[in-house]
Amino acid sequence: MLSKLVKSTALVAIITCAANAGEYNKEPENDRKELVKYFEAKFADAEKNRYAFFPYSTDDELKNNIMKGVKFEEFSKGNYAFSKNGRASYDEIKEFPPTEEFVEKGEALYEEPFANGKSFKDCFPDPEIGGQYPYFDEKRKDVVSLTQAINECLETNGEKPWNTKKGKMAHLEAYFAFATGEAEKKVDIKVNSADALAAYQRGKEYYYSQRGYLKLSCATCHVQGAGQRVRNESLSQFLGQTTHFPVYRLKWAAASADNDGLGTLERRMSGCIKDQGQVPPGDTSKTMKELLYFMAYMSNGMTVDGPDIRK
Ligand code: HEC
Repeated sequence: MLSKLVKSTALVAIITCAANAGEYNKEPENDRKELVKYFEAKFADAEKNRYAFFPYSTDDELKNNIMKGVKFEEFSKGNYAFSKNGRASYDEIKEFPPTEEFVEKGEALYEEPFANGKSFKDCFPDPEIGGQYPYFDEKRKDVVSLTQAINECLETNGEKPWNTKKGKMAHLEAYFAFATGEAEKKVDIKVNSADALAAYQRGKEYYYSQRGYLKLSCATCHVQGAGQRVRNESLSQFLGQTTHFPVYRLKWAAASADNDGLGTLERRMSGCIKDQGQVPPGDTSKTMKELLYFMAYMSNGMTVDGPDIRK
C-alpha cells in the first residue's frame, strides 16, 4: 500500500513537472540570480571586499580604480563597468563611436536582395532579434546561434555562407544588435524543455571546467577573477558578457588592413579559449553554441547594447 502510494505520488510529480514548462528554467533562473547577487556584492565596495580580489589587486587599485556600488544593468559594460581608468577612455571613444559605419553596412546587407530576389528580410522579418539568440530549437533538438541562422539563411537562398568571425557577418549582427538596443529590448533566452535544460547544463559545465596546463576555467578569470588585473587588463565579470556583441576592438583594428576591427562573439570566445591553451571548438559546433546559450541566459533581463567597443 505504502509503495503504491509512493509510486503514484512520484508519477503525479513527473506529470506536473512535464506539464509545466516553467519548471525547466528553475535551475537557470537560480544560477542567474545567484550570479547577480555575487557580482553586486563583490563590487559593492572593493576595498572592503579585498579578499574577493585576492591575490593580485593592490590597495591602490582597490581604493582608486574600482568603482563602488556597481549594479545589474551596468555590468554589460564589461570591465568598464567598474574600472575608473578604463571608463574614461571608453566614454571618450563612445562619443564618436567607430561602430556606426558597420551598423550602416549591416543595414545595407539586410536590405540588399540575394541573386534569387529574396533577402535577409525573408528569414528575419524583424531585425530586433539581438536578445533572442541563441535559442533552443525543439524540433532540431539543438541550439541555434545567430551566426548559424544567418549562414543558413544565405545557404537556403543559394548564397555562399560567410566567415563567422568578422566582415559581413559582424556587420549584419551589428545592425541586429543596434536595432534591438534602439528598441530597448532585453536579453530574453528561454529554457523550456528537458532537452533545452540539458544543453544549458553542458554549456555551464564547459564554463566552469578547468582546462589546459594552467587548469583555468572561464570562471577562474571571469567569476572569481573578475576585477583583478592581468597585465594591463582588468578581468571582466561573467554577468553581461554577451549583451554587447559584436565588438570593435582596437587590437583587431590595428591588425586589419582596412581598420575594420569588428568581430563576432565567437571570435572573442575563440581568443579566450586559445589563451586557456585549448583549441577552440568550431564557431557553429554544438559545444560552442551550448556554451553561448548558457552564457546568454546569464545576461537575461539586461539591455542589448551592441555593437560596443573594447581594447
Ligand atoms: C586567463 C584568464 C582568462 C580565462 C581563463 C578566460 N578569459 Fe575571457 N578574457 C580574459 C581577458 C584578459 C579578457 C579581456 C578583458 C576583459 O574584458 O575581461 C577577456 C575577455 C572575454 C570576453 C569579452 C568581454 C567583453 O566585455 O567584451 C568574453 C566574452 C570572454 N572573455 C569569455 C571567456 C570564456 C567563455 C572563457 C572560457 C572558455 C574565458 N573567457 C576564459 C581572460 C580570460
